[in-house]
Amino acid sequence: MSDINFGPLTNLIGTWKGEDGVDVAPEPDGTETNPYFETITYSAVGDVTNAEQQNLAVVHYRQIVRRKSDGDVFHDETGYWMWDQDAGVVMHSLVIPRAVCVLAGGKYAGEKDSEGRTIINVAATADDPNWTIIQSPFMEKNASTTGFRHKIIVGDGKMTYAETTTLDIYGKVFEHTDQNNLILS
Ligand code: HEM
Repeated sequence: MSDINFGPLTNLIGTWKGEDGVDVAPEPDGTETNPYFETITYSAVGDVTNAEQQNLAVVHYRQIVRRKSDGDVFHDETGYWMWDQDAGVVMHSLVIPRAVCVLAGGKYAGEKDSEGRTIINVAATADDPNWTIIQSPFMEKNASTTGFRHKIIVGDGKMTYAETTTLDIYGKVFEHTDQNNLILS
């Protein structure tokens, strides 16, 4: 495994803790804002080959998010990040226990911030044939996820992420957002 090139995913590998989380979630009569803390563990899986052509470097992750107000877990997410070096593409598959799955993707061509940290962007929309969303009939009808975008900035033992999940819920379009700053522990 030591010779696998995880590309922009390299600096993610490890266990991260963050105390600055802010979640903005939908309510029938408006919005709720939930401060949170979390642990995200990214583990190197290895590499896979698809159709004897596509080589992916694969990282598995588990994200456990707790409300600051009571310490209860209120978001539990898992999936994979995959790097296709030949295509210069990052892929992010995720599942959440609301019967919603996302396969997001994005190009990576060496983007860095002013401190030299890696910037990763992926996105999916329900009507995109490639990077898309699968959800249960109930969610499709009542709380449909129509879009997802996720930006990570990682390097030097620090990570910041911001994600926006666009929902069609309670008769309106709602931008459900989550962001946090994490430290490699
Ligand atoms: C740190 C990450 C996240 C946190 C802390 C979080 C938290 C929440 C909270 C508190 C609600 C409101 C639940 C309620 O009203 O009882 C909610 C709703 C929802 N979230 Fe998230 N969420 C996160 C990420 C995501 C992601 C990545 C997706 C999907 C791609 C997602 C999909 C949904 C959906 C579909 C709902 C509507 C269900 C409802 O309000 O009844 N969330 N989320």
